[in-house]
Amino acid sequence: MKRINRYLRPALLATAALGALPAHAAGGHGPMPYSFEPDTGNLASVQRGARNFMNYCSGCHSMAHLRYSRLGADLGIPEDMLAKNLMFTSDKPGDHIMSAMPAEASAGWFGATPPDLTVTTRMRQPQWVYNYLMTFYLDDNRPLGTNNLILPGASMPNVLGSLQGWQVMEEAHGEQDEGGHGAHAGPSFKRVSEGSLSDKEFEKFVADTVNFMVYAAEPGRADRVSMGMKVILFLLLFTGLAWLLKREFWKDVH
Ligand code: HEC
Repeated sequence: MKRINRYLRPALLATAALGALPAHAAGGHGPMPYSFEPDTGNLASVQRGARNFMNYCSGCHSMAHLRYSRLGADLGIPEDMLAKNLMFTSDKPGDHIMSAMPAEASAGWFGATPPDLTVTTRMRQPQWVYNYLMTFYLDDNRPLGTNNLILPGASMPNVLGSLQGWQVMEEAHGEQDEGGHGAHAGPSFKRVSEGSLSDKEFEKFVADTVNFMVYAAEPGRADRVSMGMKVILFLLLFTGLAWLLKREFWKDVH
């Protein structure tokens, strides 16, 4: 028994460690205050997200693995509309989505080069990115005056502050608030100035943007999912037919 234990224990520990890995890769900065499930099947949302990204993010961030033409084809955006509304950093649809910003200069301006965002939702998880965009808060100790709950010390300015409104973070004590409403585990945020969007509109803005990023990380995914459904339907149908056939064959044997 002891002997088995000697082998079993490390194996179990290794398995446990493996199980813990995704949480670590996802950032592991404690609980995330917002839950989020991406929905790339919602074409209108992904289209709005593309518009958000081009307007608010592509000034600093590239999506070097995605071409405008692919984006247009997948999202059903005609080329002239694409050129007029989304292509700010290039005039050729075959081009990759590059940022307008020179990398070395931006490292000097922000203290970090804005990373390419093509596959960020795969490396960080969609929920991480959603929470990152929701939790910028005012902090006098930071050079740009803002900090972030999910990426503490983030050198990205709060580019959506005028939409969301500016907020401060209040440390949580893991207790119930005065009204006795549900126990707050994580920190909470208090708005100190109104943004141009309501809370609901801003949540939708961020959800659209992250849906677009999830699409960009795997442009062929929607095709594959619908193909998968067809294959499963076919297999079900085929099983049914095979069963009928078998019944037919065995009828005479009994
Ligand atoms: C003014 C330039 C600028 C703009 C505009 C900007 N970012 Fe950033 N972003 C940065 C910088 C700089 C960093 C690096 C932060 C760090 O590592 O401290 C960053 C980091 C990030 C990260 C974290 C990536 C990672 O894996 O660590 C995400 C996600 C992100 N940005 C998303 C966005 C989105 C979405 C938008 C548009 C709504 C946007 N950014 C607009 C400058 C910008």
